[in-house]
Amino acid sequence: MTCRICEAPTKEFLDLGESPPANSLVDSPNQRQASYPLVLEWCESCGNVQLRDCLGADELYSDYLYVTPRSGMLSEHYEHLSDYLMVNDYMTADSTVLEIGSNVGYFLEHLKPRVKTVVGVDPARQISEMANAAGIPTVCDFFNEESACRVADLHGRPDVVVARHCLAHNEWPQAMVKGAAAVLGVGGYFVIENAYVLNTIENTEFDQVYHEHMFYYSIKSMSEILRRHDMVLVDVLMSLVHGGSIIFVARRGDGQPTDAVHRYASREDLFLNGATFARFAERTESIKQSLRQLVDELTRSGESIYTYGATAKGNTLLNYVGITAEQIPFCVDNTEMKQGKFLPKSGIEVISEERGLEEPPGYFLLTAWNYQDEIITKARKAGNFKSKFIVPIPFVRIV
Ligand code: TMP
Repeated sequence: MTCRICEAPTKEFLDLGESPPANSLVDSPNQRQASYPLVLEWCESCGNVQLRDCLGADELYSDYLYVTPRSGMLSEHYEHLSDYLMVNDYMTADSTVLEIGSNVGYFLEHLKPRVKTVVGVDPARQISEMANAAGIPTVCDFFNEESACRVADLHGRPDVVVARHCLAHNEWPQAMVKGAAAVLGVGGYFVIENAYVLNTIENTEFDQVYHEHMFYYSIKSMSEILRRHDMVLVDVLMSLVHGGSIIFVARRGDGQPTDAVHRYASREDLFLNGATFARFAERTESIKQSLRQLVDELTRSGESIYTYGATAKGNTLLNYVGITAEQIPFCVDNTEMKQGKFLPKSGIEVISEERGLEEPPGYFLLTAWNYQDEIITKARKAGNFKSKFIVPIPFVRIV
């Protein structure tokens, strides 16, 4: 196929079979759902890694159920990220900040006392209503040049545009970048946070691959998109959230990249290549075999297993490994909107953390492994000393 950033030909390197959209939980375990391929390909020319087959935004986001969890780890991250932006003058007390894909507004809620104005833009109807009800002004819309200008007219022209974990969620991210470029004046900053491709690959996080994740960004590929929209990458910050994320800071107009940009870019020169992708695909297959074997052995010997976290990545994992409600009947999750629903394809029922405590299983398969410490500590504090945790990534182990 063709690179959706630079139009060069791409090469496939990972095929996870077919899965339904990972956030579309269903009302009954037998509800039929269309499945679509999950195939990754990469572009030798600009370093871009992309999902081969993309679904339309309307199908994925209009009835979106993903609500950012309340999490200590995320709160610390918001604190650290806003300190970093302030200390480096990318954001000041005078800034108007516009966040794309702001969800229920937790990051803006955090920024609100520190800057002049905040405004969010999010296409999910229910989610943006929740944000507005919580006092974070949020416009329900897809972000592009037209909606960006409308929001800027209403709420003021932003000095900083933030896009956390949403720039990969669109077949044509150029529309969002174009929107940001249209409303930022020269010298304004565009801050993009996303899973970082080298972390995804090196930690064998194949479960980060689902239909919302249409791009797996590197410094090289991000620089290429930005360059095409009159922006330049000036800084990067690495973070442990969501299994290893990168924060790209771009400046509208020109600017000088920091040492951090040069340092991480030179790692990409060494590791972003076909051999790395081939080894990633081999390790992915080996996780599938070990997890399949472990779940088979435990259930055959009468052990009970629940999954923990009705995550999108969990659905990729379960469907790729071929685990269903026959072996794992329940998934524990603290998001009320997900409870009482069933995971797509596997048919596993989502229950509350409280119900998960009533008769704790022998094992939890930690499908929200990115919150490992937080979740295990929470279970022990609540008096559950019985359940062991199966952590599937970067390799299958029991803790
Ligand atoms: P995420 O990895 O996509 O942010 O999703 C995490 C999911 O895990 C989300 O549905 C909420 C759930 N969760 C819990 O059920 N309990 C917890 O303590 C945490 C941190 C998350």
